[in-house]
Amino acid sequence: MAPSDPAPSPPQGGARRGALRRGLGYLDWVFNPFQRRDVTEVYDLLGTGAITAEGLYLNLGYWEAVDDLDAASDALARLVADTAGMGPGDTVLDVGYGFGDQDLLWARSHAPARIIGLNVTASQVAEAQRRVRQAGLEARLDLRQGSATEMPLPDASVDKVVALESAFHFRPREAFFREAWRVLRPGGRLVAADILPQPPATGRGGRLKQRLSWWLVASRFAIPEANRYTRDAYAERLEAAGLTGAEVRSIREHVYAPLHQWLRDHPETLQRLHPVARLPARLARRMDAATLYAGLDYVLASAVKPQ
Ligand SMILES: C[S@@+](CC[C@H](N)C(=O)[O-])C[C@H]1O[C@@H](n2cnc3c(N)ncnc32)[C@H](O)[C@@H]1O
Repeated sequence: MAPSDPAPSPPQGGARRGALRRGLGYLDWVFNPFQRRDVTEVYDLLGTGAITAEGLYLNLGYWEAVDDLDAASDALARLVADTAGMGPGDTVLDVGYGFGDQDLLWARSHAPARIIGLNVTASQVAEAQRRVRQAGLEARLDLRQGSATEMPLPDASVDKVVALESAFHFRPREAFFREAWRVLRPGGRLVAADILPQPPATGRGGRLKQRLSWWLVASRFAIPEANRYTRDAYAERLEAAGLTGAEVRSIREHVYAPLHQWLRDHPETLQRLHPVARLPARLARRMDAATLYAGLDYVLASAVKPQ
């Protein structure tokens, strides 16, 4: 700050009340085991307080040959696009796009003709649309408010449907699979990077750890009970929706443990969180990754609408 700059004034009236409401919201979200928030309430509360340094990604990243969360988030987005075979000429539907970081990336890296986005969280939609305008990409990126389980799109109108770390929220995920089948053109592909429960461990102690680890995430992040099934059942449900060649591959070793290690090595990143969220985040960082993430699988899922 330049010496002549006036001292920052403390938050006044409305701003102070807003900050207090947010603090209380965080206290309830983090510490109340009985809280039940709608998914949009969770993301409204989190706002733009992501722990990435550059962008506003809200995913955990794909950690292979990368040094930070921004690069890992980009890598996960690229992995999804590559698996979908995204390319010039494609019309892509991106469901659960957050603040649109992956769409801004794909417009440059994979150059599809058009990306339509659907996201239920109005505050994220407004910010994502602002970023698209700022990048001058309105002609190619059409990011809207809407739900993955009721897509406002005609039948057989897109070439790719992608869901980057969002489908675990959908109520239920199978309604999304059916909608994806409907809007895909024959031969089109669905790809999701998704969070699932791990297949059950042997031994009661192991299963207890898994249940606790899943509950912590599912209860904070509004994951419906209907979406609690493992990767074999995931493939069956893709096929039941009419999609074929379902492949559901665990990539969890490239997600949780390396992210955990990076957070341990970079304690300063937690400073970007809301002060109420820092304490549990610091406690979690002290735990070993095998225990903290015992109940969580992370998959890359892919299937095709038959010709
Ligand atoms: C973990 S964030 C991931 C955001 C983004 N894909 C990323 O990687 O940064 C999950 C996103 O799913 C969105 N979402 C949740 N339920 C949805 C639904 N039924 N339809 C569309 N979007 C939904 C949330 O608003 C949020 O933007």
